[in-house]
This record gives sequence, structure tokens and C-alpha cells, in this order.
Amino acid sequence: MGLQAAFDLLLSSEAPLDGMDGLIWQSLAAGATGNKHPWSIGCLMTIRKTGDDSFCPSGRTVVLRRCDLVARTVDFYTDVRSAKVNELELSGGAVCWLFYEPSTKIQLRLQGIATVLNDKRADAAWESVALQSRSAYLSGDTPGKQVLSLQPPCTADRFVGQSESEAGRENFRLVRTQIQSVDWLYLRQGGHVRASLAYDGKESTEVSWLVP
Ligand SMILES: Cc1cc2nc3c(=O)[nH]c(=O)nc-3n(C[C@H](O)[C@H](O)[C@H](O)COP(=O)(O)O)c2cc1C
Repeated sequence: MGLQAAFDLLLSSEAPLDGMDGLIWQSLAAGATGNKHPWSIGCLMTIRKTGDDSFCPSGRTVVLRRCDLVARTVDFYTDVRSAKVNELELSGGAVCWLFYEPSTKIQLRLQGIATVLNDKRADAAWESVALQSRSAYLSGDTPGKQVLSLQPPCTADRFVGQSESEAGRENFRLVRTQIQSVDWLYLRQGGHVRASLAYDGKESTEVSWLVP
């Protein structure tokens, strides 16, 4: 069943709020397993400190790699040298994830605290990174650095064999977000609906409708 149909079915039940948390996390888990799912790719927002010591938002697309329904965590992979990692360090890991795919009309916002991991869990994740994708972690220079040339630098220059690709592990990080709250909004044809979920510790969940 598609994402929209699953929420339509839930909304047609007697007490939809009872199933809201479960369906959101099941859907995220499905998103983490396949690139055809509406929630397989999200936007990750961090907080950037500017030169004059003020703050501005900073967002980018990332692939949802893993989702733990029990611990309520979501993962993505990145290069430790990327700006977002520095932003996470300076902001105590404050992030917002946003998922939206136009055909579903369902927006999901997740707020939480992200931790940059470089331990055995990152080793295991690195093993799963396809050879061609490892090129993302093999730049000699810092990602985002300005390059003065007529033609753009390109990751195809870094397509290497399996053993050479292992050098990318040094730059690779697994970033895990502990989700603290969720804002779900569905622009349903029959009328918009919105719900809020807050996780107080690992066990209890506060779920309520919000005015859409
Ligand atoms: C479809 C798509 C998927 C992407 N997935 C990731 C990802 O999983 N991890 C990542 O670090 N960057 C990913 N990127 C690149 C980021 O959007 C971003 O450009 C890059 O990480 C630099 O971001 P930063 O300078 O804010 O750190 C993806 C980009 C696109 C277009």
C-alpha cells in the first residue's frame, strides 16, 4: 500500500491518533530501505553560525539510510569535512529533517539531536556503501572548497577500485538523529489534517491533533 493510502486508511479508523506514531515510523523504515519510497530522501536542516556571530538556517538533501523504530533514530551518511558536521558540533547537534513528496501531499517534520559516529557502527555502514558512491568520500580537498577552473571538478575522477576506495573510510561518518518530536501534515482533498508527536524519553509518546 502506498504512503497516502496508508494514512487515508488510518484516518478512516475510529481512533486514528492511536496508530499515528506506528504508521509514521513504519513509513520511515520503508523509506530507509528503498529509493522509490516518498521518504527515502529528505532535507536536513542545521544551524549555521555566521561571521558576525549570528545564526542562519542551512538545509540540504540527504538519503535516509536507516531507521530504528524502537530507539526512534534516523541515520544518514556524510563526509566529516562537510560544513554540516561543523554546524552540528557548534549547535549541539540540533537538526530538523523534512520529508515531502508532491504526489502524497504529506509533509513530515522531525526535530531532534544528531550525533556524528565514527565507531564500529560507522565501520559497518561503510561496508554497505557501494563502490561508486565511495567516490563522494574520496576528494583530496575539503567538500565545498572553491575551485578556480574552466570545467567543474567531478566525482567521476574518483571512481577507483575496491581497495583504493577504502581510503574514503577516513572521511566517512554515520550521523544518527535521536528524534524528539514530529509534526505531520496532510493536505488531504477532503480537508487538511495535522498531528504532533513528542517523545518524552524512550517509552512515552504524546500524540495530539493540531489545527492545520
Ligand atoms: C539526491 C541527493 C542525495 C544526497 N544525499 C546526501 C547524503 O546522504 N549525505 C550527504 O552528506 N550529502 C548528500 N547530498 C549532498 C548534499 O545535499 C549537500 O550538497 C552536501 O552534503 C554538502 O552539504 P553541506 O555543505 O551543507 O555540508 C545529496 C544530494 C542530493 C541531490
